[in-house]
Amino acid sequence: MPASGTARLLAGGSEGPGALRPMLDTVLDALTHGAADRGGPIPAGGPGAVAHRTHGAARPSLPDHGEGPHPALRTLVTALTAGAADPADPHCAAHLHCPPLAVAAAADLAVSALNPSLDSWDQAPAAAELEALTCRALAELVYPHGPAPDALVTTGGTESNQLALLLAREAAQGAPLRIVCGANAHHSVHRAAWLLGLRPPHTLPTPTGVLDPARVHDALTAQLPRPTLLVATAGTTDTGAIDPLPHLADLCDGHGATLHIDAAYGGPLLFSDTLNKRLDGLDRAHTVALDLHKLGWQPAAAGLLAVPDTTALALLGHRADYLNAHDDTDAGLPDLLGRSLRTTRRADILKIAVTLRALGRHGLGDLVDQVCAHAHALADLVQARPALELYARPTLSTVLFRPKGAGPGAVAALRRGLLHRGTAVLGRAATPEGLWLKATLLNPHIQPGDLRGLLDLVEGTTTP
Ligand SMILES: Cc1ncc(COP(=O)(O)O)c(C=O)c1O
Repeated sequence: MPASGTARLLAGGSEGPGALRPMLDTVLDALTHGAADRGGPIPAGGPGAVAHRTHGAARPSLPDHGEGPHPALRTLVTALTAGAADPADPHCAAHLHCPPLAVAAAADLAVSALNPSLDSWDQAPAAAELEALTCRALAELVYPHGPAPDALVTTGGTESNQLALLLAREAAQGAPLRIVCGANAHHSVHRAAWLLGLRPPHTLPTPTGVLDPARVHDALTAQLPRPTLLVATAGTTDTGAIDPLPHLADLCDGHGATLHIDAAYGGPLLFSDTLNKRLDGLDRAHTVALDLHKLGWQPAAAGLLAVPDTTALALLGHRADYLNAHDDTDAGLPDLLGRSLRTTRRADILKIAVTLRALGRHGLGDLVDQVCAHAHALADLVQARPALELYARPTLSTVLFRPKGAGPGAVAALRRGLLHRGTAVLGRAATPEGLWLKATLLNPHIQPGDLRGLLDLVEGTTTP
């Protein structure tokens, strides 16, 4: 038995909930006060002002003597909140940075308290089982026709893309793997190739925003007979566009190429009965990346890499006697080490499993439908304003627009002006037509008045 003085410090154990409860009150109060201090989607004043306030709160950052949990929580949680870019604010819409669901955040607290680590069964008995079940259920959504769908939990699209390239490299059994992707692919594809010692991807121009099957045909033909991986995207970072998946899958079949689809953004359309058809062809990929910390409303991290047959993951098998000794595995202890390149691994699956259970597929599908509908509403509003220009009708929940005639410098300055004033957080995206403001709508509670207000802010700050 630990000394009672020690036990009260801990989040787990029988005394953990009692220790946590008053601290949670302090944290929740600090979240409220910090948000009121900020008073908008992001703190005003830019990096200098935020640095000044944060230094004031954090000093001294390594004190000799502690002040105790409540003052420390109050000061720093308030400072973090006051200085946050809060994706739950309707005018915070720059990136694929979602406002997390309260139920997911609450579940995540239990993970912090219990701290299961998914590198060995003896650190995470139930979490390991929950992960196996939930991953299979999500993989079946991606690959309804099996044969044995499975998914790995990752830190996000970057890690999923890395793993996809690694699996393709290993499957090539020493032959040099060639990668073909579009200019619309996420930058992590290029980084993964570099990290894995592969040749830089052959990158095809995508002037329309998506891969052109004719160019892909030529590129795959030129690579033959070398092992080739085509990376397609379902929901590009800049515009939310979806590559022509069925056509690309046909080309890969015809050329004997491997297909990875980065559906980090668009993958959750699978939850929606109205929008899931846009992902036709997804289940023909050898690997699929999808992130639930984008269109899945999970606190980061909540990434997945799905495969149609779990045996494809055997290439990641690895042995470390202290975690998965042969005799332990033979005796029936699940071997978890091959389910990630990480060792210590947080149970990110709990928040996902709780969310799936709390909302169900329809509940999540409704949220996906709502944010995509908001994007169309924003596009309508842009088109109704003579001083604004729309890039294109949205595919997912991303809308690109700008003041008519604004050049790249003016668009960039306008975005920074809004950030500096702390009134709106918009992203930026470059296309062959120039630079655009990017609104990535992930807040299901956004109202038409919020969208009009966002455009008012943009128009109000259009002058120098
Ligand atoms: C299409 C796409 N793939 C991959 C990623 C990387 O995801 P993460 O930041 O979760 O690693 C992103 C990020 O925005 C993305 O848009």
